[in-house]
Formats: sequence, C-alpha cells, structure tokens
Amino acid sequence: MGSVSPDAVSQYLKQTRELFGDELFLDQTPTSTKTEPKKMNPDLPSNIDGFYKQIHNCTRCALGDSRTEFVFGVGDPKASLVLVGEAPGEQEDLKGEPFVGRAGKLLDKILTAIDRSRQKDVYICNVLKCRPPKNRDPLPDEVAECEPYLIHQINLIQPKLIVALGRVAGKTLLNVDKPLKSMRGILHDYHGTPLIVTYHPAALLRNPNWKPETWKDFKWIRSIIDE
Ligand code: URA
Repeated sequence: MGSVSPDAVSQYLKQTRELFGDELFLDQTPTSTKTEPKKMNPDLPSNIDGFYKQIHNCTRCALGDSRTEFVFGVGDPKASLVLVGEAPGEQEDLKGEPFVGRAGKLLDKILTAIDRSRQKDVYICNVLKCRPPKNRDPLPDEVAECEPYLIHQINLIQPKLIVALGRVAGKTLLNVDKPLKSMRGILHDYHGTPLIVTYHPAALLRNPNWKPETWKDFKWIRSIIDE
C-alpha cells in the first residue's frame, strides 16, 4: 500500500469492525501490484478541459473506429470522489456521457443519499473511453492504451478517494483477477490514491439483495471524503 495517513488507517479499522465485527481479515494482503504513483507527463495539458480537447479524437485502439462518441468523463474537476466504471455502454456511447442509462439513474440516487451528485464533489468516468462492441469486457490492449488517460485525469483532479464500480473495473485497476467480494471492504491503492471497490449499479439492478452491502460501502466512502 502507498502512503495512507494514520487517520485513514484508523478510519478503515473502525469501518472494518463495523462491517465485519471483530474479525480483522489479517490474511487479506494488499492486492495491488501497481502502487507507484506515475509522474505527470509535462507535455500533457494541466487542466481537464484541455486534456479532453487533446484526446477526444483518439484512435489508439480499434474502439476509436467503432464508437459514436468519446466518453471522457463528467463532473467536478476538483472532486474528492472519482467513480470509475469499466467502459461506456450503448446509451453512453450515443450521448458521450458516462452512466446515463438505467444503471446511471441508480448511481445518481446513491450519490444523492451521500449528499453528492455528478455536479457536486464527484467526477465519473470509465477505464475505457470508448464502447466495446456488444458491451464485452475491455481487452488488455485496450486497457493498456486507455488507462494512462485515466491516470492523468486522476492526477489532475487529485481526489481523496477513487471508487471502482464493479468487478471488471476493480480487477483492471488493481491488476488482479479476483471476485468482487474479495476486493470489497479493503482500502486499496491506485497510483498513490486510496481506492475502494464496490458493486456496479447494473449488478444492483439485477440483484437488489446487494443494495444493503452497497449502502455500507457508500457510508464508508462518505466517511472518507467527508474527513
Ligand atoms: N457501465 C459502465 O461501466 N460505465 C458506464 O458509463 C455505463 C455503464
């Protein structure tokens, strides 16, 4: 794990006890193999609008040819919370904005419940900026081309916390192949920024039973960003 403040560690232990009782899960070692913060490339724009202008015609992978719209990201460029999904779906591809379909509507409700919104203290984006055909999972070469964009966005925003939405986003950012349940409940590290993995809102639409666990995660998320 990278540099995490003593307050964040103590908050994490408190939350862990609230979520799981006295069992501290000491066998769960940090899972990230990519913990070194990357240096900001001096040639990249130093504000988010300039960065969008620079990359929105990207064709570094084949998805650049099949997309309708480049889905850069939306929200507060100084947000404490960055939410990261896996890739745009059909609606997002048409509109050029992340999480605008049914799952996005649910995400908006969750954000309202923690007194945030996509305009207020939150930035929403995806690992991939273009829609994969038939919403298949991102391929490794697509991630290799696109993830540096995400890293630069995060460097510009400097959030307190990143939340990976769903197993695919979580395993891609943490560079592990694990089920969602074993990535949840842990304060990971993504290039120097704390990262939590929780359920994807589309998964909650399919399995509403996971909503209470998601709510626990978002209470934890709120406690970190409210600090
Ligand atoms: N699912 C995602 O992971 N991202 C979106 O933008 C929409 C749906």
